[in-house]
Amino acid sequence: MRRVVSAFIVLGAVFAVSPASAQQTAAPTYSKDVAPILFTTCTSCHRPGEIAPMSLMNYQEVRPWARAIAAKVADGTMPPWHADPRYGSFVNTRGLSDAQKAIIAKWASAGAPEGNAADLPPAPVYRDGWNIETDVVLSMTEDYPIPATGEVAYQYFEVPANFAEDRYIQAWEIRPGDRQAVHHMLLSTRPPQAEVEQMIKRQQQMMLQRMFGNPPANAAAANTPPRPAPPFSFACCLEIPSGQSGGRPLPPEQRKPLGPNYRPRPVGTGPTMGGYSPGGSIRVFPEGMAMRIPKGHSLVFQMHYTTYGKATTDRTTIGLQFAKTPPTTPLSTMALINASLSIPPGAAHHLVENSMTFNRETLLYSLVPHTHVRGSGWHYEATYPDGRKEVILSVPKYDFNWQHEYVFATPLRIRAGTKIHARAWYDNSPGNKSNPDPNTEVKWGDQTWEEMMYTGITYYVAPATATAAGQQ
Ligand code: HEC
Repeated sequence: MRRVVSAFIVLGAVFAVSPASAQQTAAPTYSKDVAPILFTTCTSCHRPGEIAPMSLMNYQEVRPWARAIAAKVADGTMPPWHADPRYGSFVNTRGLSDAQKAIIAKWASAGAPEGNAADLPPAPVYRDGWNIETDVVLSMTEDYPIPATGEVAYQYFEVPANFAEDRYIQAWEIRPGDRQAVHHMLLSTRPPQAEVEQMIKRQQQMMLQRMFGNPPANAAAANTPPRPAPPFSFACCLEIPSGQSGGRPLPPEQRKPLGPNYRPRPVGTGPTMGGYSPGGSIRVFPEGMAMRIPKGHSLVFQMHYTTYGKATTDRTTIGLQFAKTPPTTPLSTMALINASLSIPPGAAHHLVENSMTFNRETLLYSLVPHTHVRGSGWHYEATYPDGRKEVILSVPKYDFNWQHEYVFATPLRIRAGTKIHARAWYDNSPGNKSNPDPNTEVKWGDQTWEEMMYTGITYYVAPATATAAGQQ
């Protein structure tokens, strides 16, 4: 990067002396100036077998695309990245500097010269197989059939893990069986069946107690200290409509036929830990941070399939790399949602918001803003206990095709009492080219023609101490 920037400054200096002749001699070349940019910011997707439509690994492959590359880079659509650079700083930022953009523009308009092959830096080496060191590889246990056309409800697949002890995940890589059919995959874990049954029993007992108000059977239980307050509280709107993932089941007479191959969500499935979306198949946690998969738990894959005109099957696989030692900062996930949204027909700039308060000091690792095809923008503002406000992430042009995880360059230390206010905008007008129907009122739902206001949050919060619990 530094080399590229200084090359640009030198170019500038030459122009100052003699613009016309300098252009001849100093036009950037593929080998010297452009390849280093493509290798670091493009070839992760633009190589054989990856999600981009063409490979950009060498000059022969790049040359026919020179104009398109210059155009996509200039208008900011490539590399895909949607955070407003004025706010926050993220480890996985994909933007190009103005200097890099200028090199590509000059090179393309100079006829995309190859230059001297001796200047070419070594091409990045991508492994044919896994791009992370995998300790274990787990797959769906069936080739799931996907029809050629129509909608496919979310399907759930339980994947046995059988870990004999708690495992901490340092990195994962998810490989869809059929990249074209897998719109996204979300990963959760599920306790063993016996534990799930106990959990259900406990919940039933709690409900009975609420209904009939029995005093605790054991008098000593009344004197146990109150449980610590939850680390977060939400302003509103957490109730997911019945029949959608995470909501109550619909009464039987209202259930839609879900197709012959419906795989329902296993009872007891935990919250999502993250997952796969195009361009985001690998997650590597920094040292000391990792995600726990408890002993005996299985994995649950929530699969969202989209049909593409050809019947196919999918068997998605995950590779896991374990942490060598238990992390000092084990990460967890939660979601900030507004499930009560209702977007009027034709509304071009409809706002849906919600906020949450952090009751204990929390480390914020990443945010994943998620809306569907009507989502047009996101904005997150923190209000600190001293009243100071700060925008922690802004996504002025949300694009459903790119579900980025925004990983803070340094995890944000959020003091107790901090509030985060999330705002999402929706374009339900005919002006939105992706809008399947501008004449309908849109509510919360799993399918892309319904909407969500969902932010996946990865965080760390220290276990409540005895004193902290006593104070609450
Ligand atoms: C995260 C993955 C990813 C990265 C990184 C990425 N691309 Fe792409 N690129 C895609 C995908 C997927 C498409 C096709 C869909 C689309 O156009 O949005 C695409 C499309 C393109 C196209 C248009 C192709 C066409 O058919 O017209 C160009 C040109 C392009 N990319 C250039 C680049 C350049 C140059 C870079 C680096 C500066 C880059 N891309 C980085 C994934 C990526």
